[in-house]
Amino acid sequence: MPVLGIETSCDETGVAVYDGAAGLLAHAVYSQTEIHAVYGGVVPELASRDHVRKTLPLIHQALDTAGLGAPDIEGVAYTAGPGLIGALLVGAALGRSLAWAWRVPAIGVHHMEGHLLAPLLEADPPAFPFVALLVSGGHTQLVEVRGIGRYRILGESLDDAAGEAFDKTAKILGLPYPGGPALARLAESGDPERFSFPRPMTDRPGLDFSFSGLKTYALNTLRAIEAAEGEASEPSRADIARAFEEAVVETLVIKCRRALRESGLKRLVLAGGVSANRRLRARMDAAIGAAGGQTYYPRPDFCTDNGAMIAYAGWQRLRAGEHEALAFRPRARWPMETLAPLSP
Ligand code: KG4
Ligand code: ZN
Repeated sequence: MPVLGIETSCDETGVAVYDGAAGLLAHAVYSQTEIHAVYGGVVPELASRDHVRKTLPLIHQALDTAGLGAPDIEGVAYTAGPGLIGALLVGAALGRSLAWAWRVPAIGVHHMEGHLLAPLLEADPPAFPFVALLVSGGHTQLVEVRGIGRYRILGESLDDAAGEAFDKTAKILGLPYPGGPALARLAESGDPERFSFPRPMTDRPGLDFSFSGLKTYALNTLRAIEAAEGEASEPSRADIARAFEEAVVETLVIKCRRALRESGLKRLVLAGGVSANRRLRARMDAAIGAAGGQTYYPRPDFCTDNGAMIAYAGWQRLRAGEHEALAFRPRARWPMETLAPLSP
């Protein structure tokens, strides 16, 4: 059952074709980074307009790569939320209309369920149940996953998401948007011993996170350096980036270990943009391995937003017989626990 997946929730246009028997047949992502970089962050209206321009050409491209024509597609999945409402509307209107024209079922996919299921596209996929750490630009959540749609939120960020904290701290350090990868690169040359940032909320029980204090910590450290040195040198900024990254990574590791211990589960899935971070992966592998657990990730391309995860999540639900009526309703906010368990 070849399913077309469309992702337009933020600043990446992603399109893919996934088939149960043949696997991933095609995927293409167009990133709007250049459009938003001059503004230092995503401008929602510009994001919507660019999705309007890019989505249909990417669909043609993905179908060509897959060697399929419209009559071969048996279902259409599109991101229905959460995300920027104008951006979501583009993919939803296009996806729903194509499904209607092609007379195939359509399904609106939850963006975070897409991220969560992305590791199942890999060669050695995790079996259920597992704990998932979702770390993206908009969400930081620990989820107990018993099956598709069987989600229990164990903890989440009370303020900034991990990716958001990376992006805001990167901005403080004068790095270009998107900040996360740029900050990770700068941190490579930083001295991990020079500054020590707090590990927020790790000294009390519970699995919630709070990352907004870390950017203030970074700002205050930068100000102190500027007071002493004048303009902060590149090595000094690298030291701040390193201290910040160490703090986020160690905080995530502590909470993941705790989540596995408390849930009695052994498998840990990481997904979302921040799960591409190399230091996070290395530290998590070491810590979870030492505790007798196992870690799973999507390939780096599928950590950040993409169409493959939406095609896959949609395929899972469509093949279980789910589909939606002709009307569609994208949602800027959409709690993941409200999703229906997949019928067997
Ligand atoms: O999942 P994603 O593409 O979009 C959302 O659903 O939000 O995640 C984007 C986030 C951004 O905040 C970006 O800075 C962060 O993931 N990110 C990283 C890295 N790559 C992407 N953060 C830290 N290290 C990275 N290597
Ligand atoms: Zn995402």
